[in-house]
Amino acid sequence: MTLNEEIARRRTFAIISHPDAGKTTLTEKLLLFGGAIHVAGAVKSNKIKKTATSDWMEIEKQRGISVATSVMGFNYGDYKINILDTPGHQDFAEDTYRTLTAVDSVIIVVDVAKGVERQTRKLMEVCRMRNTPVIIFVNKLDREGRDPFDILDELESELKIKVRPLSWPINIGEKFKGVYNIFEHSLDLFTPDKQRVSERVEIDSVDDPRIDEAVGETDAAKLREDLELIEGVYPEFDVKEYLEGSVAPVFFGSALNTFGVKELLDCFVKIAPAPRATQAEERVIKPEEDGFSGFVFKIHANMDPNHRSCIAFVKICSGKFERNAPYKHMRSGKTLKFAAPTAFMAQKKNVVDEAYPGDIVGIPDTGNFKIGDTLTSGESLHFKGLPSFSPEMFKYIENADPMKSKQLDKGIQQLMDEGVAQLFTNQFNGRRIVGTVGQLQFEVIQYRLEHEYGAQCRWEPISLYKACWIESDDPEALAAFKKRKYQFMATDKEGRDVFLADSNYVLQMAQSDFPKIRFHFSSEF
Ligand code: G4P
Repeated sequence: MTLNEEIARRRTFAIISHPDAGKTTLTEKLLLFGGAIHVAGAVKSNKIKKTATSDWMEIEKQRGISVATSVMGFNYGDYKINILDTPGHQDFAEDTYRTLTAVDSVIIVVDVAKGVERQTRKLMEVCRMRNTPVIIFVNKLDREGRDPFDILDELESELKIKVRPLSWPINIGEKFKGVYNIFEHSLDLFTPDKQRVSERVEIDSVDDPRIDEAVGETDAAKLREDLELIEGVYPEFDVKEYLEGSVAPVFFGSALNTFGVKELLDCFVKIAPAPRATQAEERVIKPEEDGFSGFVFKIHANMDPNHRSCIAFVKICSGKFERNAPYKHMRSGKTLKFAAPTAFMAQKKNVVDEAYPGDIVGIPDTGNFKIGDTLTSGESLHFKGLPSFSPEMFKYIENADPMKSKQLDKGIQQLMDEGVAQLFTNQFNGRRIVGTVGQLQFEVIQYRLEHEYGAQCRWEPISLYKACWIESDDPEALAAFKKRKYQFMATDKEGRDVFLADSNYVLQMAQSDFPKIRFHFSSEF
């Protein structure tokens, strides 16, 4: 197969949802269709979230599983599918944000009873920043839930994206009879069954009397009425708008019952984008270019504390990746060869000889890589940094064992490079502040500092509302701001200016008092 053919058949995406909406179940059913697993219940990676929030030891145990399921590759017909797993636990949301930079599209799972929940809204913001194409799967139609039209309205207003249903449910909950597939004009009848695929009724059009035979006249009439309304309200589905990230097609189904999943997958492989061009600081990189390029979007620490090795996950952006070929590590300028890159196919981790754009390779590493690093076959390229978001929780980190301060410094630096949390240094008192998106990360850091670096840390409270990056075109205005707020100024890892607002009120006042200062809530600006 040529490089272009390899690229064209790849679909690299992530499934995102609020915990419990059904992401794990849907992932599993997709793997089932791809023949990557043979029975339901085989994927339990996201069960991490099911354990108590503070049970870090349990999470540590489970990390072994999550390495294996970080990337799930399988073939489906002519397509090569790569699903990138995102942590279910919301305390690891930052990890999810970064994974979203390595995918070409996203499937969002929404629970029909709960509608759009907080975490989905946040993740959608990241997709919107990058115009990532999005398909929405409304799940759990076998349970009582909300009216599908209401759900569509909510999706539009909460996710701030136009929607277009491509399938439509016939009733919901106990009376749920199936879905009409608007994309392919077919009718699928619902039989609750966790392993088997639903029954399909062949029909010619929405007026086909076989619909009445299958679901009864009343429901058939209601279906026709709904579909007429949909055609009247929602413009014709336009793949181009989907690919631009301005319209999200919506499917309805029940992941647990494997219902509506195949329709979703069949439509997905047809319309979802193959690997797309990637923006580097220097230029736009097209996947079909000969030269290899890729970037590290995730680093997974090893669980063996005696070997501080980890796996760096590299998303291939262009060209063919080959084992043992010399690649340039842009940040260090070193040429590196990788003898044992791994890829993930059908739940197995194997050493691979080659991989193509859209694929993810895992590279065993002993500290060479940082999140966001670029690798190329020679050209000087830097992929745009991965975004960090304003953290929401803060603590001072202090050394609890003065004899081990070197270990602590090294540990903090490496954990931050791995993207576990963000570090800010207060310019006023020089104290280090760790910012996270969830309580759990503080425990993770403390545990790993101790077990991997032999260092002891202590957390001290700091009352902060948000950290935001600031900049201005007017150096004097910037200097005036920094002078006025000197106690609340910090720098991030890269030495950029960060304002530490201790309340929402203070932040709003600062924004109105200093109109020449731009406040950013993501590091990508
Ligand atoms: P998540 O990864 O998004 O957090 O969700 P997950 O797939 O773990 O699903 C959350 C719960 O919702 C699970 O139940 C799962 O069985 C259930 N579920 C998923 N899809 C459907 C569906 O289409 N219909 C119904 N009725 N339930 C669904 P659980 O009891 O929490 O876990 P488990 O013991 O079944 O694993």
